Amino acid sequence: MAVNLIIGSQWGDEGKGKIIDNLSAKSDLVIRFNGGNNAGHTIINSHGKFAMHLIPSGVFNKSTRVIIANGVVLDFAVLSTEIETLKKAGVKLEKRLLISPRCHLIMPYHKLLDKLYEEAKGKAKTWTTGRGIGPVYADKVSYNGLRLGDLGNKKIFSEKLAMQLLLKNKILKALGEKPLLQKDIEKEYFNFFKKIKPFVVEVYPIIKKSLDLKKNILLEGAQGVFLDNDWGIYPFVSASTVLSGGVTAGAGISPKKIDSIIGVAKAYTTRVGFGPFPTELFDKDGDKLTELGKEYGATTGRRRRCGWFDAELIRFAAEINGFTEIALTKLDILDSFPKIKICTHYRLNGKRVSYADGDAAFLSKVKPFYKTLKGWQANTRGVRNYKDLPKQAKDYVRELEKQIGVKIKYISTGENRNDIINI
Ligand code: GDP
Ligand code: IMO
Ligand code: MG
Repeated sequence: MAVNLIIGSQWGDEGKGKIIDNLSAKSDLVIRFNGGNNAGHTIINSHGKFAMHLIPSGVFNKSTRVIIANGVVLDFAVLSTEIETLKKAGVKLEKRLLISPRCHLIMPYHKLLDKLYEEAKGKAKTWTTGRGIGPVYADKVSYNGLRLGDLGNKKIFSEKLAMQLLLKNKILKALGEKPLLQKDIEKEYFNFFKKIKPFVVEVYPIIKKSLDLKKNILLEGAQGVFLDNDWGIYPFVSASTVLSGGVTAGAGISPKKIDSIIGVAKAYTTRVGFGPFPTELFDKDGDKLTELGKEYGATTGRRRRCGWFDAELIRFAAEINGFTEIALTKLDILDSFPKIKICTHYRLNGKRVSYADGDAAFLSKVKPFYKTLKGWQANTRGVRNYKDLPKQAKDYVRELEKQIGVKIKYISTGENRNDIINI
């Protein structure tokens, strides 16, 4: 039995979906525990190509049950579309997809407020995905949220919604928007709930039973460490706890039950959205990473900013999450580079500094220092045995391991499910 936790170790989009789809073959349960449909986890396997926003990436493995746990926030329309897409692809969900009634609902006013806050901030905006994520989590922690389970009792839901509309319509009006109508929202949400209801169940007893029976459980983190609400580069972050500890609140699993914590890291660095990015490239190498890596967001289609691998960041991510191993992805994207750089540390005013020494303003000033390695200039795409990697590619992997101080257990060499080396 093993409880394995998958965490994005950079700014999201590290290839978590691909790794989870692969590892789910050995999992009885795959559980999402944070974020919402700001996530986009790409999976390419015999069923086709999918970008999963809410349903766990283990859903393609027939014998695996998948859980959307309480820490996840739900957009009904996105969830319905995802269910339909999977059904069309021949993926059965009955008795396999389980959704916690404790999940908070993204309401129409959350999406509007997300947009209005961003517009109001102008240049200082976070560049969110516009999915209502910040406002829905804000309502959750300020006791103003509506939960999936509330829909089980129409009267309760209507009362809570009326209260929220009283507040939210005042805010919307002040920001120049039209008020929202209770009856429109109720109609839409009661309809969606009818479709989703068969999947809604308290998941804690199921998770507990699986733990007691020593089943294999895979926990699917969304986003990445530097988008964490506390330890990311605030305010250029997302609203949930991304770190390994988030699973305790987000799925109800004790930290003592976790056997391995796998940090997923791209062989270089990318991010969407604003905020400091010490190793960002503004030259041809950066463009090359974007184009070869097809670095456009799975959720919004936005171009991802690209840079060299930043070992300072991953060392911090490994420490704060307790990574027991690393899954390195997209090694193949570096195949044609004659020289490859690794940021080993930062300096500021002549002194070595660390990620955790300061805030966003501090990080926008630090200077990255690099170690340059020879590229392999040979194909690694689709390689599945470590021994078949070119020598310089092995040297790169070993140098990353040395810099991070954590073993690299998996190397992903392509976007397909099975393009992976298990060391
Ligand atoms: P996630 O959010 O962490 O699941 O990552 P995304 O799906 O947003 O972005 C990762 C992208 O890289 C997707 O387009 C994947 O298909 C692709 N990908 C993942 N692993 C590899 C790999 O090893 N090589 C290549 N070439 N593409 C990969
Ligand atoms: P996955 O799970 C990459 C980023 C947004 C923005 C910031 C806040 O696919 O790795 P939000 O809409 O969450 O309020 O936006 O967080 N962001 C992600 N970037 N991958 C993700 O998820 C992300 N989820 C949020 O781009 O900068
Ligand atoms: Mg993604």
